Amino acid sequence: MSRLTGPNIQLNELGQLHHFLTIEGLKQQHLIEILDTAESFINPNTQEIKKVPILRGKTIMNLFFEPSTRTRTTFEIAEKRLSAQVESLDIETSAAKKGESLLDTLWNLQAMQTDMFVIRHAQSGAAQFFSQHVAPHVHVLNAGDGQHAHPTQAMLDMFTIRKHKGSVFDLKVAIVGDVLHSRVVRSQIQALSILEAREIRVVGPKTLMPESPEAMGIHVYHDMEEGIKDVDVIIMVRLQNERMTSALIPSEKEFFKLYGLTKERLALAKPDAIVMHPGPINRGVEISSEVADGPQSVILEQVTYGIAVRMAVMSIIMSNAAQLKQHRAEQASLDLDEPHTLNAMEEANS
Ligand code: NCD
Repeated sequence: MSRLTGPNIQLNELGQLHHFLTIEGLKQQHLIEILDTAESFINPNTQEIKKVPILRGKTIMNLFFEPSTRTRTTFEIAEKRLSAQVESLDIETSAAKKGESLLDTLWNLQAMQTDMFVIRHAQSGAAQFFSQHVAPHVHVLNAGDGQHAHPTQAMLDMFTIRKHKGSVFDLKVAIVGDVLHSRVVRSQIQALSILEAREIRVVGPKTLMPESPEAMGIHVYHDMEEGIKDVDVIIMVRLQNERMTSALIPSEKEFFKLYGLTKERLALAKPDAIVMHPGPINRGVEISSEVADGPQSVILEQVTYGIAVRMAVMSIIMSNAAQLKQHRAEQASLDLDEPHTLNAMEEANS
């Protein structure tokens, strides 16, 4: 049976998501499907009976090789709300600490009849690597790989924007902080441009800006006041100190002075602008407490929506797998029918 085909290795032969590794290369319809499906999962967040049986009988393995608070917990909650059997490997006490390789770990966990892996790893490309080594029926979801991508975070951010602004289309969005090292920002920029935001700005010191912004379709600002002027959405990101190989900013205090989001600066954006942050926030470094806890902040809403969006991605992937199975069964029966059709045609012509 053929494995994944096409230029985007996360898509199946019907062009649907089989894995979820990156936003890059996806079509607007893929993103809209996730956002619309997430909408249908918003109610379970507030209802008393939160569970739906979509993933009953499926086993999901969460593999977090890097620290996580929001992503790991909301994935686990989403999986449980979809009625899956959920396992989260504690890497610190696993045999990975005895030198077992990543692939051996993967194959052993797959032998436990895992249907889906959710993986976070410090190495860029780790999720894709996993996806190339799992069995064809197993799905891989990227929960953050190095500096590369964090697709479910970008989708929950798009969902939050849509909730507040109606749509992403035509908005002006400023992303402020350590753009260079952020997998979240990379995925956000891709999602914003697929959903046709009017203007995507990145704001920060030269040392933390990407190398070829033109190719990414973004505008770079080194002046915070100019960068956030008249925008609809401000996304703040943390300094990713663990990914910096040398000192790229003078000090955290200096950074706050130049790029910290304060109430005074926020007043330069549109009056109804929303303030977002994927977390973890560092108060007094990239954002003041007054703004983080203020009326324009939607930071904790992002966390809540993370559950619905992750439920959406997992249920779409499982429903795609069922559709693919049916498509292949139909193809196989067509192949079987073919000789009869040919015979019938020959008889009719003779
Ligand atoms: C981010 C991550 O881990 O990439 N956090 C998250 O998933 N919500 C952002 C960060 O660590 O700064």
